[in-house]
Formats: sequence, structure tokens, C-alpha cells
Amino acid sequence: MDLTTAIQTRASVGALTEPAPEGAALMRLLEAGAAAPDHGRLRPWRFILVRGAARERLGAVFAAALARAEPEATAPLLERERAKPLRAPLILVVAAHVVAHPKVPAIEQILAAGAAAQNILLAAHAAGFGAMWRTGEPAYDEGVKAALGLAPEDAVVGFLYLGTRRDPATERRPAAAEAQEWDGPGSLTPL
Ligand SMILES: Cc1cc2nc3c(=O)[nH]c(=O)nc-3n(C[C@H](O)[C@H](O)[C@H](O)COP(=O)(O)O)c2cc1C
Repeated sequence: MDLTTAIQTRASVGALTEPAPEGAALMRLLEAGAAAPDHGRLRPWRFILVRGAARERLGAVFAAALARAEPEATAPLLERERAKPLRAPLILVVAAHVVAHPKVPAIEQILAAGAAAQNILLAAHAAGFGAMWRTGEPAYDEGVKAALGLAPEDAVVGFLYLGTRRDPATERRPAAAEAQEWDGPGSLTPL
């Protein structure tokens, strides 16, 4: 599959099952992530794998975060939160380790980690795996970050749910391109 075809046919896959990428296939995905553009060669991305029974422990961390944030959360809501990491056989947490740098502001470090996440999604799709990029409240919860070994100044850019699609793929038409042309101050016209 050529790169543009991979980009245009990639679609989120919510219903995932075994097998997840592992071994050499997993390493290829991580290497695709690490090939992202990166101002200052800071390599700000962090890839944290959560699989097997660790997904249940991550679910407990998610549920605890919800209970802290919303003390009145009902038992079914907490259970739903706890089950979230079980939606795929592998969760790859992509985070940005953000450092103070004279030329590379935090946003650029986070963008580089986001580019790494997209590279991983595309490489997973090209290799025949299904994936979905999710965040939600847990991505911004300090307790979740700490449980994952991240510092308060770090950012979770995504929980990449990875595995094999359960259902057949539906055809995806190329997304419409929208852009404007700038021809000088005050002159923006639709392309
Ligand atoms: C940073 C980021 C966070 C996202 N978080 C969620 C999420 O928590 N839940 C969700 O349903 N979709 C989330 N999405 C959107 C899906 O990953 C997906 O891109 C969207 O549903 C469009 O579908 P597509 O990937 O097939 O084009 C997120 C996307 C990005 C880029």
C-alpha cells in the first residue's frame, strides 16, 4: 500500500480483538512513531504499552480518577470507565515528555508526539491492524499520568487502541480538501 493510499483509507476502528501487533510488527510501529518530525531532536515522545491483565489495572486507575473528579459518579459509570481499556488487546499510551528549551516551546514537543501517534496509526493500518486514537478525561488527569510514570509537566497525547478489526472495513472516500490562499495582508480567498 503506498503512503497516500494508506492515509486516505485509514479509519478509526472501535471494535478490536486479538491479535494485537507484537514482536517485530510492534517494533515497526514504534519505529514509525520515532520517525516523526521533531524540532531540536528532543525525542519528546514516550510510548507506554499496556496489554494483558495490565489493562484491568489501567481500568482501575481510570475508575479511580473518575471517582475523584466526580464523587457522585454512579456504580455503572465507574464500571464503564473501568472497562474502557478492555476495548482492545493493546493500548499504546503516547505521551510527550516536555522539557524547558530555549528554542522548542512545549507545544512543539507535544505536536511532535502527536505526529508520532499519527505515524503509528498509519503504520498499523498499512500493516493490516485496526486502531483508534482516544483521549477523554483520563488523558488530562494528574493521577492517571502519575500512575503511568509521567511527570505533571508531561502530556498524554493519546491512548492508541490497537488490535485486529472485528468487522469488515467499509469503503472510505477521500476527505474533501479545504484551504485558502493568502496573497498578502487582508487577502484570503478559498482555493
Ligand atoms: C487527540 C485526539 C483525541 C481523540 N479522542 C477521542 C476520544 O476520546 N473518543 C473518540 O470517540 N474519538 C476520539 N478522537 C477521534 C477519533 O480518534 C477519530 O479520529 C474520529 O472519530 C474520526 O474518525 P476517523 O479516524 O475514522 O477519521 C480523538 C482524536 C484525536 C486526534
